[in-house]
Order: sequence, then structure tokens, then C-alpha cells
Amino acid sequence: MQNETLKVIRNRRSIRKYKEQQISDAEIKAIIEAAIYAPTGINLQSWHFSVIQNQALLEKMRSSLKENLRSTGNADQIKRANDPSFVPFFNAPTVIAISGMKNDRFAQINSGIAVENIALAAESLDIGSCIMTSSAMVFAGKNAGELKKEIGFPAGYEHVCMITLGYKDETPSASERKEGTVNYVK
Ligand SMILES: Cc1cc2nc3c(=O)[nH]c(=O)nc-3n(C[C@H](O)[C@H](O)[C@H](O)COP(=O)(O)O)c2cc1C
Repeated sequence: MQNETLKVIRNRRSIRKYKEQQISDAEIKAIIEAAIYAPTGINLQSWHFSVIQNQALLEKMRSSLKENLRSTGNADQIKRANDPSFVPFFNAPTVIAISGMKNDRFAQINSGIAVENIALAAESLDIGSCIMTSSAMVFAGKNAGELKKEIGFPAGYEHVCMITLGYKDETPSASERKEGTVNYVK
């Protein structure tokens, strides 16, 4: 079976190479509307979306993430941080940071559903995205409080994930899906 929605779901990929050009305000508005129309447990809407398009702040986030990888003491992480081809957030022109209310047990799943709405809305507009949780490393250092404030996490909210957005500069094929992850009981 095929329709526009199913096609968008099937065509979405994690995009890790972006064009420099910023996405339009109308596109980001439509994408955010898709996010906030996601369902939430007991309709608490216990999330917050920080749309980051300030290039100085994005640079601060990228360098904090690299610095914090270096501070882990883990050889692989240090190697990654020092690899000149490693650019956190793939230099995407827009990053949305999703924070969730600390005292809502649904905050993680609510944010997860919303971030997929963002990814699908973006795909429907031919905009690339990549959901990320390694973004948590942005906040692993001493400047975490300052960064959270600059990004705009509300008080009592914590980082859940981020999603990069931008015009695609690659067309990856779909990664293989595992066998045996579904059963039917009729
Ligand atoms: C919860 C979650 C966390 C993820 N974190 C990262 C990440 O930190 N870095 C990254 O490059 N991709 C990340 N991804 C993207 C996955 O690697 C990707 O979805 C998976 O490889 C399947 O590929 P596809 O999205 O193209 O279907 C994440 C995806 C999800 C759902």
C-alpha cells in the first residue's frame, strides 16, 4: 500500500551532510507546528523546542561537545574529537534542542514522538534531518548551565535530544532493517 504519508516515512533518512543555505522561516514554522501537534501523555505537552539558528551559539555547542569528548579520558572519544573530519551536528544550519520536564514520566516518550514528527515534516518538505542523543555531550562540561540558558531550556527541563535540519547534500540509501522484530497474533 502507498500514499503520501507512507512515502514520506519510507524516504526519510538520517542526513549527515547539509548545504550551507538556511531553511526558510515558513519551513521551520511548519516543522514546529508538526512537533507541537504530536500527542502527549495526559496532554501535558511536557516538552520545549529551542530552534537554534544563531551560528555563534551553534559554534559554541560544537566546540563544547568536542571539548567534553576530549575530557572523557576515553581513547576512542578523544580520537573522534581530534579527527578534523568530525564536525558535531554536521554543520547543519538549524538545530532544534528538545528539552523535557524533569518531573513528568512521559517527557522522554513525548519528546521522542515529537522529534519524529519533526523529521517527517522536514522530509515532506525535502529537508534533511538527523535525530541525535550524543548531543547530551554538549552539556557535560562546566559551561552546561550557561549553554542551557543561552539555548533556552526552561527551568526544571532537561536535555532529551536534538535534531539537525537543513537542505540535504547527500542521498543515502536506507539502512538495512533487522529481521524478526515483528510478530502477529491473529
Ligand atoms: C534515539 C536516537 C538517537 C540517535 N543519535 C544519533 C547520534 O547521536 N548521532 C548520529 O549521527 N545519529 C543518531 N541517530 C540516528 C541513527 O543512527 C539512525 O536513525 C539509524 O542509523 C537509522 O538510519 P536512518 O535514520 O537513516 O533510517 C539517532 C537516532 C535515534 C532514534
